[in-house]
Amino acid sequence: MPTLPESTIGDTSWFIDERFGMFIHWGIYAAAARHEWVKHREKISDEDYQKYFDHFDPDLYDPRTWAREAKNAGMKYFVITTKHHDGFCLWDSALTDYKATNTPCGKDLLTPMVEAFRDEGLRVGFYHSLIDWHHPQFTIDGLHPMRENEEFREAQKHRDVTKYAEYLHGQTRELLTRFGKIDIIWFDFSYSQADYGWSKGKGKDDWQSEKLMAMLRDLQPGIIVNNRLEIPGDVHTPEQFQPRGWVEINGKPVVWEACQTFSGSWGYYRDEYTWKSTDMLVQMLIDGVAKGGNLLLNVGPNARGELDPRAIERLRGMGEWMRLHSRSIYGCTASDFVSPADCRYTQNGNRLYLHLFAWPFRNIHLDGLAGKVQYAQLLNDASEIHFAAIPAHQQVHNTTPGGVGADTLTLDLPISKPDVVVPVVEMFLKD
Ligand code: GLC
Repeated sequence: MPTLPESTIGDTSWFIDERFGMFIHWGIYAAAARHEWVKHREKISDEDYQKYFDHFDPDLYDPRTWAREAKNAGMKYFVITTKHHDGFCLWDSALTDYKATNTPCGKDLLTPMVEAFRDEGLRVGFYHSLIDWHHPQFTIDGLHPMRENEEFREAQKHRDVTKYAEYLHGQTRELLTRFGKIDIIWFDFSYSQADYGWSKGKGKDDWQSEKLMAMLRDLQPGIIVNNRLEIPGDVHTPEQFQPRGWVEINGKPVVWEACQTFSGSWGYYRDEYTWKSTDMLVQMLIDGVAKGGNLLLNVGPNARGELDPRAIERLRGMGEWMRLHSRSIYGCTASDFVSPADCRYTQNGNRLYLHLFAWPFRNIHLDGLAGKVQYAQLLNDASEIHFAAIPAHQQVHNTTPGGVGADTLTLDLPISKPDVVVPVVEMFLKD
């Protein structure tokens, strides 16, 4: 087995087994429908952004449908944006008026979501933005929507980030005391290295990360914390790319989870068209597990409270694949065997899973596996796959096939690719 990450304070034992979660970005930016950073991108003032708050009325919101789609896709946990950078809160926080209960929808949107996902057997994670472009004490910096308005900057010089930190800690306390057991808290993000000349980015000193961490460990023992507080957490979170290998910090493997979108945006974006195909998404899930990581795949529900049909189609496609192949994902991790080109291995004990991203003609050659496999089958229908050191049909005309070493095992595959997006051969290794 590969070298495993050292254990951290949070309990990641379930996390590395379950492998696949749903990220949800939902807030009033869904009404703008052009990215959750729209306030920053278009430098919108609080007054002008207010129209999204005043018209937010997700009348079709039924989190049970979301939870069912997540479960059917094979997802085992979910992470919801309790507050994003625009400062809007989905729950009935006692510390702000800027919350769902004060929009036309008039309801706490978080409680029914947590219940619905729990009822479907999923674990609960909260994303919480460290950044807040609405809070009156959040000092203006180079990411703030009002960054280019010098008059505003001047008028807001009195802002005190320590007062904002109090709010951040208070809201975190609410989130970790009002909703039962929370499995993950996902903070976003620190940028203290950023220097805008007239201002600097924010990080652990602004958030008072050490104190925040101590509080949350105390309130929810075992909770998993991500790595974006600028102090060590439990899980590393590469975003919008697939790492080339197991993610390492200072040369040591860590627990990691890639967060990815269906399209190029986290929040609902009507006119964004770079949607990934189901095939690509299934391959990304497999690729992550083959490198010891998880996949947190994001949906951005719209302002009526529904999942995008384009996301539903892909979730269902992934679910179809997972129904037959989840054995090669759950409980699996990287293997020490090196997979052939266009393939990925995952492994769970003595079961080695070969995922074929491209379907070859008749044979695939597995280096290092000669004499090590007891039995092999296709996972989608449990049909036997024959294998041999050098298959009889290749030992003709006194030649030996090139590139096949003494330790190579050759599988005999059917000519026609099984009708699944990524076929998997399950191999039972000898003890
Ligand atoms: C980023 C973005 C953001 C998104 C997050 C998800 O850091 O600020 O909008 O919520 O990544 O990982």
